[in-house]
Amino acid sequence: MKTLFVDLGQRSYKIRIGSGLIHKVGGYISELGFTSPPIVITNSTVLRLHGRNLLQSLIGKTEGPRVIQIGDGERFKNRETLWQIYSGLFKARADRRSWIIAFGGGIVGDIAGFAAATFMRGIPYINVPTTLLAQVDSAVGGKVGINVPQGKNLIGAFHQPSAIFLDPGTLRTLPSRELAAGLYEVIKCGAISSENLIRYVERNLERILKCDPAALQHIASECCCIKADVIVRDERENDLRMILNYGHTIGHALEAATSYRRFKHGEAVGWGMLAALGYGRELGFLGPEAIHRLWALIHRVETLPPLRGIPVEKVWSALVRDKKVRSGKISMVLLKDLGDGIICQDVDGAHLKKYLKQFLAAGGDPGTH
Ligand SMILES: NC(=O)c1ccc[n+]([C@@H]2O[C@H](COP(=O)([O-])OP(=O)(O)OC[C@H]3O[C@@H](n4cnc5c(N)ncnc54)[C@H](O)[C@@H]3O)[C@@H](O)[C@H]2O)c1
Repeated sequence: MKTLFVDLGQRSYKIRIGSGLIHKVGGYISELGFTSPPIVITNSTVLRLHGRNLLQSLIGKTEGPRVIQIGDGERFKNRETLWQIYSGLFKARADRRSWIIAFGGGIVGDIAGFAAATFMRGIPYINVPTTLLAQVDSAVGGKVGINVPQGKNLIGAFHQPSAIFLDPGTLRTLPSRELAAGLYEVIKCGAISSENLIRYVERNLERILKCDPAALQHIASECCCIKADVIVRDERENDLRMILNYGHTIGHALEAATSYRRFKHGEAVGWGMLAALGYGRELGFLGPEAIHRLWALIHRVETLPPLRGIPVEKVWSALVRDKKVRSGKISMVLLKDLGDGIICQDVDGAHLKKYLKQFLAAGGDPGTH
């Protein structure tokens, strides 16, 4: 088992990573000093597959846990579900000493974390992520929130967990498409700050896709280290943390333009990275060998859902509405080299839109290989 420490002063926490860890979560919880029963927030899929393991590990370590089940899917990361969670918390007689276990993928983590951030002005939560995307990305860093009709994650907070327990063994039940979607976030981490991680994924892709526990533990701990390192330097995304948005400027816009139906979040990031690669080439960033390596790796993971029929105007209007546009200026992460991302704060909108039009017309082939 590996333990990482996210050093944020009073908001510091440990990330424990290990296969089989789900059976031991209860044992570690006592060190956190909670005095009331946990409220487990999860969905029916995760509860059915892994609930018994988590709940059994809590027996004798905490008072009887309560479970709040929410709907499964991005469309449930909304105000109605949040209210359902608040009602469940009141029904369970939760108070300011109560605490939450967010148990599931990124959707459960985001909404349960936001409920924790806001219930009685904030109660603690721990995160037990069960998708690759959540284990390598969303569980770490304290960004929590919900979607509203105006856009994704537009209501939210920064609320750090008190601990994260990450068991790669839980990924064995994950559908292969979800595993692949998470892997794009791993590739993103490598692309912006670790060529070694890119090389590891290139060499071990088959093991990762077969859920080899050692390979999954390795990529999760590398990604958590990279993310934690960024977060301790810029917890609230004033500048540096934006580097984690590689592939997200166009990826988020693609998700919104297709009403969050066509792509998994990670898949949209996969397309977003390909688009950013091509755009970076237009601007003279990054040599052909690095472009080819990343392009080839992204395509080896799985076949991304096609971009067919997505109007550029829809993507563009989503892009300029996004949080990444500040005072009318578009920011975008580009690569100087593999493992070396930079934040471009003032991208020429007209130029980017022209490029995006070509990219979509070519079905997402940036012509970089
Ligand atoms: N807060 C952040 O920093 C951050 C970062 C990236 C993404 N996100 C958010 O994360 C969300 C996407 O998260 P996700 O990709 O984990 O999707 P998800 O939470 O919807 O999980 C994907 C599917 O896998 C199922 N599942 C979960 N664990 C499973 C397991 N072990 N076995 C089988 N099935 C399992 C879920 O029930 C769901 O159907 C988006 O809402 C995105 O905005 C947040």
